[in-house]
This record gives sequence, C-alpha cells and structure tokens, in this order.
Amino acid sequence: MQQFGIIGLSVMGKNLALNVRNNGFSVSGFSIDKKEVDALANYKDEKLKPTYSWEEFVSSLEKPRKILIQIAAGKPVDETLAKLLPLLDKGDILLDGGNSNFHDTNRRFHELQEHGIHFIGMGVSGGEEGALKGPALMPGGDEEAYKEVAPILEAIAAKNSDGHPCVSFIGPEGSGHYVKMVHNGIEYGIMQEFSEVYDVLRKVAGKSNAEMSQIFADWNQGLVQAYLSEITAEVLKQKDDLTPDYVIDHILNVASYKGTGNWMLEDGVHLGAPISVVAEAVLARFMSKATTREGKEVQWNGEVPINLIDNLAKALQLSQAVAYAQGFQQLKMAADAYHWELHYPAIAQSWEAGCIIRSSMLKDIEKAFANGKQLNNMFQDAYFNKLMEQNLPALRQVIELATRAGIPTPTLSAALNYLESIFNPSLPANLIQGQRDYFGAHTYYRNDRAGVYHTQWFEEK
Ligand code: 6PG
Repeated sequence: MQQFGIIGLSVMGKNLALNVRNNGFSVSGFSIDKKEVDALANYKDEKLKPTYSWEEFVSSLEKPRKILIQIAAGKPVDETLAKLLPLLDKGDILLDGGNSNFHDTNRRFHELQEHGIHFIGMGVSGGEEGALKGPALMPGGDEEAYKEVAPILEAIAAKNSDGHPCVSFIGPEGSGHYVKMVHNGIEYGIMQEFSEVYDVLRKVAGKSNAEMSQIFADWNQGLVQAYLSEITAEVLKQKDDLTPDYVIDHILNVASYKGTGNWMLEDGVHLGAPISVVAEAVLARFMSKATTREGKEVQWNGEVPINLIDNLAKALQLSQAVAYAQGFQQLKMAADAYHWELHYPAIAQSWEAGCIIRSSMLKDIEKAFANGKQLNNMFQDAYFNKLMEQNLPALRQVIELATRAGIPTPTLSAALNYLESIFNPSLPANLIQGQRDYFGAHTYYRNDRAGVYHTQWFEEK
C-alpha cells in the first residue's frame, strides 16, 4: 500500500510525486492523461506507483487515504471530486494543490465535510523547480487532518535559513488558498515595482542590460536579497536565440495573468483593504494591453544624480516592504471578517524559502508579528518604521525624477502614497464627508463630540 497519492501528473504533479518519493515516502500517481502515467511508469521504482484507473489508484492507498489533487483550478477540481467521492471512505484526506479560488475551497470544504471527507486547500508556490526541490506550502482546512499529512508536507517543503520547513497549518476553510492568493497579489506588486525600477535604470540612468543585470545581482547581495532580484539579474543578461541581442529587448511588453493577483484585489475591495500597490500592479498589467503605443520614447537629457543607483535600491527595498505590508493588512482584515485565526509569523515563515516572493525581509516580518503582536500596519513595528524613515527620501527622489522624465511609476508612487497616508492625522476625507452630507444628507461624525450630525447646507424652498 502506498502512503500518498497524487492526481494530475503534468509537471507540477509529477515533480511533487518525485519530491515525495525522494523523501522516502511511497506514492501512487494517476492522471486522466495516460501518457503522464506512462512517464511515471518509466521510473520503474516501487515507491512511485503508476495507476491507470480511478479504482486502481484509490485502492492502492493506505487508509486514511491522503490524496493530493494537482490539476488546473476550477471545474476540473469539482469533476475530480465527483469521481473520487464514491470511492472514498470517511476520514480520507483530500488536498487541492492548485491555485483555486478561496470561495470554491470554502464551498468544497463544507460539502466534503458532510460526507466525512477532510478537505485541505493548499497553496503551493515555487513553480516546477520548487515542486521538485522544495515548495512553500500553505495548507488550510481541517487541522486534525493536517496533522496526518504534516510529516509528508514538512519533508517535501522548502526549508528556511533555520532549517524550518516552509509549511504550517494556516487556518480553517479556504484560508490556505486565501494566503496563496495574497502571496500572488504581493508577487504582482513586487514584480511591477521591479519593472518600474528597471525602467528608470534604462531610461534615466542609461544603463545597459549587462550593467542592469549586475546591479540587480549586487542588490541581491545587499538591500534587496530576494528571489525576484536573482531572476531579474538572470533575465536581463540572457542572450536571444534568434538574434544577436538580449532576449529582454525582444519580449513583447504585454503582461499576461491567470488572475490570482486580481482575486486579491477583488476581495480587497470587498473588505475595504487599502492595498494600493497590488491594485496598481493589477491595473499596470491591464494598461500594458490597453496602451496604444503611439507616443514618443522617453529621452532623458537631464542630470543623473550620483546617488541614483543607491536610491533606487532603497526605493525598491521600501516599496517591497509596502507590498508585503499591504498583504498582511489584508490578511488581518480577512481573518476578522471570515472568523479565521491566522498566525502571521507562521505565514511569513512559510514564505521565507521555496516561493516566488521569498526574500530576506520575510525574517524581519516574522519578527515584527512575533508573540501575537497585532499591527494595524506593519510600519508600526520599530524595524519597519525605521526603514521607512531611512528610505523615504530615496523613494521620493526616484519618483520625482521619474515624473520629470515622463516615466510612469504606478506601484512606486502607490507605495509612497500609502506611507504618507497610514500615519497621517489629517487626510482630507472631512471634505468628502461634507460633500456627501451636502448632496445626499448622508450625515457625518465630528472630531470634537460624539453622535451623528447633519448640516442644513442650503435653504429649502
Ligand atoms: C507561484 C506562482 C504561480 C504562478 C502564478 C503566475 O507561487 O509559484 O505564483 O502560482 O506562476 O500563478 O501567475 P500569473 O499567470 O497570474 O502571472
């Protein structure tokens, strides 16, 4: 009998199966695509059992069965659950490792609970390589069931700098997929911030691809130690197969998306979460499709400040912190609204290795939220407050310069605006309230006495 089962054996599923096997567990694999099962059979390894029917797959597993579904999110997951359900026993554990929408996971969790089946919606980050060598895992659902699968998940997960596995129980219902959704929203935000910094480097500082690659590689050893710095350096230095040029100069500048970042924005709007960097990053992808491309290229003939490169590093470091801060702010609002108890240091820890947004800053975030500290925003923490004080002038300088050059900086500017708002005692929302009360008698609160007020703004005739 095999200890673990995986349904869906395309690259992610196959690599996860190999990862489970490499960590000493036996695994059965099944796919509706026979070729994928044949590929598993080619390993000729008794710890890696290929199965060719739903029945053969389910009956090959020891009980309670532990089955990871690793297929495209959406309808295929419901179809798979419908196929599996008649073959399972009460107490069996199903994990969905796709990028499922948390609303679907909430629904499936409750539907399966009625059948006595434990359902764990699990965010998996790190792409193909992560799946094989150690992904970050974000499992949410039934905690008792999690304990049953924890030894396998902890074995296959990436390990942080302390050797701790990048997985821990997130919370009930669809909270695991929620956390993965927030991971992806932060991913969109930080990627867009990198793109804006790249734009300033090439158009204002006049740096070549090779120079920029070196700059990002240096930052990866310095202020912005992050997987995205590492791969940005790699992307910028890659030569093209088809021309003598760098490939980056031939990649069409239209950003695609499968939409998990958009989902974070949708729920952020629902919750009223001020996630401006994520919002601008989502909109920047839309803009990359919408632009007519009829304008002139930016030509910067002005001065290039000698500290520009250092200030770009500081701007990127601080704006990256804002992207994370907005993610954690939304998580806190979601936890309150959906009655989930979320453990923020554990979430930061599970992002410290294996995932796309991994960076050295996550250790500082883990510390900021340690000991159950409830922060309305991450910049209330002393470390991040100091970072803000130190790097704000650099962020401001970069945005000023980009503005003068005519380079859009939607996420860098959103980060600056966020920081200039979160501690601001006199945002001008009083005027909005006055206008609302004027045209619609919507009432307002006062800052000097309790109660609800309405002003008679004009004489009724
Ligand atoms: C990860 C990635 C992964 C995927 C994104 C890409 O954590 O491993 O986030 O899930 O690459 O979904 O998303 P877009 O296609 O929307 O950019």
